[in-house]
Amino acid sequence: MTEPFAPRPATASKSAPLSGTVRVPGDKSISHRALIFGGLASGETRIAGLLEGEDVLRTAAAMRAMGAALARRPDGTWQVTGTGNGCLLAPEGPLDFGNAGTGSRLVMGLAGAYAMRTTFVGDASLSRRPMGRVLDPLRAMGVQVVEAAPGDRMPITLEGPKHTAPISYRVPMASAQVKSAVLLAGLNAPGVTTVIEPVMTRDHTERMLTGFGAQLEVTRGADGARHIALEGQGRLAGRTLTVPGDPSSAAFPLVAALLVPGSRVTIENVLMNETRAGLIETLVEMGGDIAVDNRREEGGETVADLTVRGSELRGVAVPAERAPAMIDEYPVLAVAAAFAEGETRMAGLGELRVKESDRLSAVAAGLAANGVDCRSGADWLTVRGRPGGAGLGGGTVETHLDHRIAMAFLVMGLASERPVTVDDRTMIATSFPDFEPLMARLGATIAAPDGVPA
Ligand code: S3P
Repeated sequence: MTEPFAPRPATASKSAPLSGTVRVPGDKSISHRALIFGGLASGETRIAGLLEGEDVLRTAAAMRAMGAALARRPDGTWQVTGTGNGCLLAPEGPLDFGNAGTGSRLVMGLAGAYAMRTTFVGDASLSRRPMGRVLDPLRAMGVQVVEAAPGDRMPITLEGPKHTAPISYRVPMASAQVKSAVLLAGLNAPGVTTVIEPVMTRDHTERMLTGFGAQLEVTRGADGARHIALEGQGRLAGRTLTVPGDPSSAAFPLVAALLVPGSRVTIENVLMNETRAGLIETLVEMGGDIAVDNRREEGGETVADLTVRGSELRGVAVPAERAPAMIDEYPVLAVAAAFAEGETRMAGLGELRVKESDRLSAVAAGLAANGVDCRSGADWLTVRGRPGGAGLGGGTVETHLDHRIAMAFLVMGLASERPVTVDDRTMIATSFPDFEPLMARLGATIAAPDGVPA
């Protein structure tokens, strides 16, 4: 199991205008999938722009443990030689996913459908997260859950049947991870596996499966739900792909530039897939000055360059239906709302409770510790802002092993009257290893609490 570590706090303080042009690392969701599909496909896959964060490297290790060959080349691209669909090998030891919910849930679907034993372990945060949402459909496909901690939590050992049953599964919560786990299990099942998705979530799995040559069809039911039908046991063929910049990472320099008066920051090559674009839509509604330039297609996805200027924001009501398109961005949106004129109301946030931390509680506690007037309920959060950040800051935020809580509150400290401290920044490396140097290049003041540059 992942070893505990010594926490490394950091403090962000009021910064002069941020300026510069940056690129954020590759999209985390696409990076996991690129390694999984590349590791499964026949032949060679070349990946440019892969996120080399800890979460993704765990997925690389898991695919290697099951027979794929993966190597980083001197030019920074990754070369993956897959096993061929249906040909994964039993790993010799447990697969340790660290902090990574996406990697672990997707690989549970993938490996769970094989007639072999696979054990999944993770860190304290991952071991608290509910896995029943993936195990339930896998059980329906004939997968045996040999071992699980109470509440279907890790450590988990799965053993697939001789012949995995293709099923039709209506996903009960808005979750791309659950959708993807069922489709990945369906890759090794004879016949058609159908996932019914009442609320559309990020569609990278569908796009990439098609790109790797899977027979996949998406239709709409009479009620508007998406029906994703996948023909199992087909051939996947290796390919070349480029991972666009992660909008969930871009969110941090983007909001920082909006909040620090006089800033002007360009973030190049950001993924603009509409299932991920909820934050930009919301910030523009709040009065954020965000120019979307140079929209172009790259590797089956739309990317663009974003130029962001310091802006006076006003509170808005964010509709619950938008939550799947910005589910990872609520911590930083809540921080933006703390500086907006009036109230920002966020609804439909139930899924935030089962992320790397209970993000709804962690955000509400972090805001309160820094003087922000906020209220929250089971699945909502309301924030009353203070334009200019007068009186804000001065608190320490508990990050609960959650990278996005750490980054969101460091952004807060750049614009609030007093500094904001986070109790640990170690986990930032799971998704955005360059966060601190990139922010420093833009002029952000983030340091260890003893004043040493972070
Ligand atoms: C992800 C799906 C989302 C998101 C996570 C990445 C994915 O989780 O929060 O960071 O890559 O499929 P859920 O599927 O649990 O909503």
